[in-house]
Amino acid sequence: MKTSKNTGFRMGKIIAIANQKGGVGKTTTAINLAASLAVLEYKTLLIDADPQANSTSGVGIDPKNVRASLYDCLVNETRAKDLILETEVPNLWLMPSHLDLVGAEIELINHPNRERIMKGVFEEIKDDYDYLIVDCSPSLGLVTVNALTAADAVLVPVQCEYFALEGLGKLLNTIKIVQNRLNNDLDIDGILLTMYDTRLRLSNQVATEVKRHFDELVYETIIHRNTKLGEAPSAGKPAILYDADSSGSINYMNLAREMVQKHDNTWVKSADKILDFEE
Ligand SMILES: Nc1ncnc2c1ncn2[C@@H]1O[C@H](COP(=O)(O)OP(=O)(O)O)[C@@H](O)[C@H]1O
Ligand SMILES: [Mg+2]
Repeated sequence: MKTSKNTGFRMGKIIAIANQKGGVGKTTTAINLAASLAVLEYKTLLIDADPQANSTSGVGIDPKNVRASLYDCLVNETRAKDLILETEVPNLWLMPSHLDLVGAEIELINHPNRERIMKGVFEEIKDDYDYLIVDCSPSLGLVTVNALTAADAVLVPVQCEYFALEGLGKLLNTIKIVQNRLNNDLDIDGILLTMYDTRLRLSNQVATEVKRHFDELVYETIIHRNTKLGEAPSAGKPAILYDADSSGSINYMNLAREMVQKHDNTWVKSADKILDFEE
C-alpha cells in the first residue's frame, strides 16, 4: 500500500468492519484499530456508520451535539469535508453518526443509485487519508451494503464464544453479492478473533475452529478479553489514551502493525477461498 508515510503519495484504503451479529467487537475494533493506526502516524478517518453512534461517543464526541453526520451526506448531500471532526488523538479524525441514520434505510430506497451513495461521498475525501475505517451496524441493510460497496476490504470480527460461526455464511454471501454486482474490487482483509479468554477452553476451541475454516485469513493477532476495553468508551477515549499499558491497547497496536505489514506486502487476494465456506 502506498501511503504518505512511506512514499509521500497517499492512496486511502477503506476498511469496513462488518458482522451482522451484535456485540462481537466491531465498534471496539473500529475505535482502537483506527487510534492505533493514527499512533503509527497513518492519517486515519474513523467513520461511524451505525445509528447507535458508539464509535462517535467512544472517541469523546457526544452524538447529541453533532450538527451533521453521515446521514446528512447520504440523504441531504452535505459534503463529507464539512462534517469531519478532530479527535483527541493526533492523526485521527471522525465522521460522526447520529440516530437519524436509521431513517436512511427507508429514505434512500427509491434513490436510483441507492447502493453507491456512500462510495460517492468517500471518493471526495478518500485520498486525504491513509486509512478510512468504517464501523458498520449489526445489520446487512442498505447502509451496510453501501459501506461494502465503498470499501476496498472488509474486516470481520469473530467473538470467541458459542455460535461464533453462526451467521457468518450469510455475511459472506452478502459480500459475494456485493462483489458480483456492486464492487468487484472488494477484498476480504481478514478475520479477527475477539474477546479471547485464556481461562476458557471454549475460546481456544473457537480459535482453532475458525483457523481451520479460514486458515491464513485469520489475523495472527488475537484480541483478548480486557476490562479496560470495556471501560474506555465511557471515558470517551480509545484504550491507548485510557490505559496505554493495558493488554487491550497492546493487542490493538499489534493488530494495526500486522495490518499495515500485510498491506505493505501484497494485498492478499483471498476472496475466492473464504467464499467457499459453508456453515
Ligand atoms: N476484547 C474485549 N474485552 C472486553 N470487553 C470487550 C472487548 N471487546 C468488546 N468488548 C465489550 O463488549 C461489548 C460489545 O462490543 P462492541 O465493540 O460494541 O460490539 P459490536 O460493535 O459488534 O456490537 C461492549 O460493551 C464492549 O465494550
Ligand atoms: Mg457496534
